[in-house]
Amino acid sequence: MKHDLEDQLRTDVTELGRLMLGMRAAYARGENAMEYARKTAGALGNSPASTLIAYDLQAGTYIAGARANPDARARWCGQLAEILNPYISTQSSILEVGCGEATTLAGVLKRLDKTPKHALGFDISWSRCAHGLTWLEENGVSARLFVADLFEIPLEDSSIDVVYTSHSLEPNGGHEEAAIKELMRVARRAVGLVEPLYELADAKAQERMRSHGYVRGLKETAEKLGATVRDYRLLDYCGNPLNPSGLVLIEKTGTNMTESSEIQWRCSLTHTPLTANSKGYYSPTTGVVYPVLSGIPLLRAGHAVVASAFNAFNTQNEDENAYSI
Ligand SMILES: C[S@@+](CC[C@H](N)C(=O)[O-])C[C@H]1O[C@@H](n2cnc3c(N)ncnc32)[C@H](O)[C@@H]1O
Repeated sequence: MKHDLEDQLRTDVTELGRLMLGMRAAYARGENAMEYARKTAGALGNSPASTLIAYDLQAGTYIAGARANPDARARWCGQLAEILNPYISTQSSILEVGCGEATTLAGVLKRLDKTPKHALGFDISWSRCAHGLTWLEENGVSARLFVADLFEIPLEDSSIDVVYTSHSLEPNGGHEEAAIKELMRVARRAVGLVEPLYELADAKAQERMRSHGYVRGLKETAEKLGATVRDYRLLDYCGNPLNPSGLVLIEKTGTNMTESSEIQWRCSLTHTPLTANSKGYYSPTTGVVYPVLSGIPLLRAGHAVVASAFNAFNTQNEDENAYSI
């Protein structure tokens, strides 16, 4: 039986299934999968599902780019490390939100003056995290990667010293407030948004950003949420002048500044504590488990499995600290 993507599209599939098959077919034809989704899939075309599919399809391309142009990567990561240095000690925790293939995370960790106690990164795409783990290993850098959605981060309030982005808010235009609010919830000391800054871009770049549905008004949104913005500017080095990278640096005040002891995982659905081991992240309060796929925890609300008996069947529950990805 023939099973190519075009044939599948003609069969009776769900709307989401149609989107997946259509985007894969467009990508295979060399087209921009996200543009295909926007043009053909109505409301689903600009949804988290289409962002996920588009980014997952491109998994591996960032590592290829980093290999092809190591000097550009080094400049990018050096620039970010310089911004984050004042907030990092050997007892700190750091999180890159939407870390893709960890090409930025690995480079930042290598260049920070002090190595933080906990380094974390998550992305909505499993395939990107999988590539990221190989890149971390190749670069001799240690960090925990997991799958999560930046709008429902599976971590306790004010539990990570430094939370930063590197162009991951970018495709989430229209959802700026929810995104910044969630990052500020999790951060204890600082949030560094390294994103294209629409308001500081020229007319050509602005037009491009509008056509891609990129974020806008990040500084204004942060201030509207009561944030203290300590730095706001375009960065000296940017990979693409049509997508000018800038910084919105938010310092959190009024939180307990004692640095983190251990990572406090939370259920994305109920915010109850999760205990972690190599098989799954389990909430004793709700009986929900988030599975681990090939060493990568899947922590989006949609990954939750109701499995009250999980502990009974996983008696040798290694404690979370003994388990390193
Ligand atoms: C332009 S790439 C940047 C990747 C990485 N930060 C870097 O510097 O190489 C944007 C990344 O954000 C991720 N992303 C977009 N929306 C997301 C969301 N809602 N939750 C988590 N990750 C998201 C994408 O999957 C993609 O890997």
